Amino acid sequence: MSQTIYRNGEYVPEEQAGISPFDRGLLYGDGLFETLRCYDGKFFRLDRHIERLRSGLKRLEIPLALDEQGFAGVLRELAKQNNVASGVARIVVTRGVAEFGLLGKHAQEPMVLVTCWAQAMPDIKRYETGIHCIVANERLSSAAHGLKSLNYIAQILARREANAANADDAVLLDSHGHVAEGSAGNVFLVRDRELVTPALQPEILAGITRATVLEIARADKLPTVERSVHQNDLFHADEVFLTSSVAEIMPVTRIGSHWVHLGQPGPVTREMIRAYRALVLREAK
Ligand SMILES: Cc1ncc(COP(=O)(O)O)c(C=O)c1O
Repeated sequence: MSQTIYRNGEYVPEEQAGISPFDRGLLYGDGLFETLRCYDGKFFRLDRHIERLRSGLKRLEIPLALDEQGFAGVLRELAKQNNVASGVARIVVTRGVAEFGLLGKHAQEPMVLVTCWAQAMPDIKRYETGIHCIVANERLSSAAHGLKSLNYIAQILARREANAANADDAVLLDSHGHVAEGSAGNVFLVRDRELVTPALQPEILAGITRATVLEIARADKLPTVERSVHQNDLFHADEVFLTSSVAEIMPVTRIGSHWVHLGQPGPVTREMIRAYRALVLREAK
């Protein structure tokens, strides 16, 4: 069924999105995006998503006309028009159409596209059994600049590698061979009741869920460390999980042929899943 989408100030059916074949998002990936989960028509920590979007766009020198309140109104309207209770929303901002060439001179208005569609949470069984990850051959480059850019080729190739290996997802390393992140989420491990996640660097997206998990852990007096993580750390971990706005906290119970926590989500992961959901219930608006 056709969805209503928002495009530069207008609500239109998706067939009438009217995206230019010369849009730089399409031609060069010259733009950024945000993905949020919709909870009963409400959104969790939209302010952080808009802040990340705004600071990334500043780096690209792409102006953003809408503020947080503006986006909140658009998201609520789309959730209503598309009848979305549990769903996913995506905000895409591109430089729009500009003169031919990489510089993007004389760019017209940036394109702001917002979509919101019904999509249930991943199957509950996956949170109970955990998922199977591979460590991808595909590496992440510092050219990602920590931006949630419209270029996801490395992540797509890694996810396809995982799929070809009958795994659910992939963990990607940086060019030095250190653990960076999952194909669509940040990586955490637990060792001796200490929560460890790779320290932020240009290969890694500063996940909103990552920051929330660190916040929950610190409030719970669970020691947290942000440091460089070696692949072997994953194999020696007591627990591993991935974090993202869409899937929240997903236990990883197998990495390659290695079982984590005897193939079951561990106690810290379970506690994080519970605490994160409680926070969402309290804060989503
Ligand atoms: C590559 C990558 N890393 C990390 C994340 C997690 O970010 P967030 O928690 O802000 O959703 C995502 C989310 O889509 C992602 O695509």
